[in-house]
Amino acid sequence: MAGAVTACRALCRVDEIPERGARGFPAPPGRLIGLFAIKGGGMVRVFVNSCPHLGLPLEPVPDRFLDRKGEMIVCSAHGARFRVEDGLCVSGPCLGEALEVVAAEVVDGVVTVPAAAGA
Ligand code: FES
Repeated sequence: MAGAVTACRALCRVDEIPERGARGFPAPPGRLIGLFAIKGGGMVRVFVNSCPHLGLPLEPVPDRFLDRKGEMIVCSAHGARFRVEDGLCVSGPCLGEALEVVAAEVVDGVVTVPAAAGA
């Protein structure tokens, strides 16, 4: 019996995300909420771009998801701060909640996520 085929979406080449930086991506077709990727420490992590506080996108301008030091994800609406390693909110109005993590992998240098990732 053949395994299930999972449709994937290529976001960008991994080298198109700055080291200790971030990049946003639009919602997939038919969806409203996009994604963003954080690169650092040899890893790329992808999250749904929706704050657990009110569901708003996090960035004030394109690709600005991190604080000045590049250490924390920040929601521009009300200042919630999230860990880059798992999206857990450590301060702000959604303390203890977390960003939705997307299962991402780098395939031949391309950041790839499930096609339906987003909301
Ligand atoms: S919507 Fe993100 S902190 Fe309020």
